[in-house]
Amino acid sequence: MVTYHNQDSNDAKAILAQLRAAIAWQLHMGVNSCSGVAPLEPLPALTTPNPSSPNPATTPSTLSPESSARGGVGSHSDNSVSSPSTGQWVSPSEPQASIDLAKLSEASPKKTSLGQGAAFSTESGSSSQMVKSTPPYPADCDLAGLRDAVEAYEDCGLKTFATNTVFADGNPNAPIMLIGEAPGAEEDRLGKPFVGQSGQLLDKMLASIAVDRQNAYISNVLFWRPPGNRPPTDREIAQCLPFVEKHIALVAPKLLVLVGGIAVKAILQRKEGITRLRGQWHDYRNPAFGDNQPSIRVLATYHPAFLMRSPANKREAWLDMLKIKVALSDLG
Ligand code: URA
Repeated sequence: MVTYHNQDSNDAKAILAQLRAAIAWQLHMGVNSCSGVAPLEPLPALTTPNPSSPNPATTPSTLSPESSARGGVGSHSDNSVSSPSTGQWVSPSEPQASIDLAKLSEASPKKTSLGQGAAFSTESGSSSQMVKSTPPYPADCDLAGLRDAVEAYEDCGLKTFATNTVFADGNPNAPIMLIGEAPGAEEDRLGKPFVGQSGQLLDKMLASIAVDRQNAYISNVLFWRPPGNRPPTDREIAQCLPFVEKHIALVAPKLLVLVGGIAVKAILQRKEGITRLRGQWHDYRNPAFGDNQPSIRVLATYHPAFLMRSPANKREAWLDMLKIKVALSDLG
């Protein structure tokens, strides 16, 4: 049982709500103690697997946490976990039915994708420079201008298949910014990040530390859904990265949380995987700030889609949430 102390607030209702959210999250996450007791299985009511399909929440993952959280074509992806309305497993191949196969082969990865756990390869030391050295947005743009530039950008093949550009959600003035991997089917449909199954889990994780979309800002490394939820290619990531770096520079969060291995590799440009890098604070120097840039504190954590497939790692994610909570309260 976790005891919550909120010394900054005398509001008993707020403390109670926070405590409820923490307990709900622990139950959902399958963690019965933040101090190290073995994780429990997730609550059955949250997922009702179809016997003919493996349940990613209970089946050992074939993907490492370093790989794309999405699983890719033909495997269980973020939005193939379960349908909230029916509780049935949804086939990950279903969204591909309307895809033009000729177009798909044009946009298919030619290189090993990050989803295979490969290091983020660059040709010049900076992945932004892998594609172009001139920023693809007006130098003096604000957040709305950056959003317009992303929406007008035609060079990334992912856009061909996407219904919507998924830019961001939440409060750009918040002290904390979270960056995930790429939109899934639900995000593509609604044009908002993290609104599918893994988004619901992320919301629960954040609610346990009193963070929501009013006091956090959320985006992704990719602005368009990869077809069939396949892992993004290095090139697609490199095409989006200048926008992402500018995005971070414009929001200038006090804390940046990288959600999943793809975000960690793309933004921190480190060879080590998320298993090594998660749970510690890193200093991020954003190339889009130019010289004399301030550094931003960055915490890497597991992607909720990975946690749904790998419940054993939920306790570490819980510890990461507690680190974020402490860092936020230190900010005052
Ligand atoms: N997974 C992500 O990484 N981002 C989203 O927006 C949704 C699922």
